[in-house]
Amino acid sequence: MLEKAYQEKQLGGTSLKNVFIKTATFEGMYDNGIPNQKLIDHHTDMAKGGVALTTVSYGAVSNEGRTFKTQMYIHDESLKELKRLADSVHEAGGKVSIQLTHCGYFSKNTSIKKPLAPSRVFNEYGALVGLMFSKEMDRNDLDKCKNDFAEAALKL
Ligand SMILES: Cc1cc2nc3c(=O)[nH]c(=O)nc-3n(C[C@H](O)[C@H](O)[C@H](O)COP(=O)(O)O)c2cc1C
Repeated sequence: MLEKAYQEKQLGGTSLKNVFIKTATFEGMYDNGIPNQKLIDHHTDMAKGGVALTTVSYGAVSNEGRTFKTQMYIHDESLKELKRLADSVHEAGGKVSIQLTHCGYFSKNTSIKKPLAPSRVFNEYGALVGLMFSKEMDRNDLDKCKNDFAEAALKL
């Protein structure tokens, strides 16, 4: 029975050496929004331990998609470190995915004026740092958000 778990499996367009997939569990291992060596080591250790696919959590697709301002978002500087992370995981025999995200209204990212969300709602998370309410997204905001997801995916 357990042997089955160690058989190669197909997941979409990629093959996995077994069925063990590490889900996204927010690591918070960044230095000023850039993934750090701890994050690289953490995911490399997953691969060394036999996990077929490890998942880097919470890759915000833009600065305004961040829950707080030291969180990672997809841009050139973080991409360099994510590339190092992917190389290291591959070298250890694993594969790696990333969770692409946008925090919506739930933000205390003080580098933005207002969090963007489907509606104007009270932001209990950011209220104490002055981000009391979200802004209801208009057509341009929605298009930008959609493009940010597409661009982030293409850059990775
Ligand atoms: C400490 C911790 C952090 C988590 N962070 C994330 C996250 O960043 N993104 C996400 O989609 N899920 C996150 N999760 C949810 C897990 O990925 C997983 O779906 C959840 O723990 C259910 O799986 P389980 O029943 O095996 O625990 C987190 C869970 C824990 C315990």
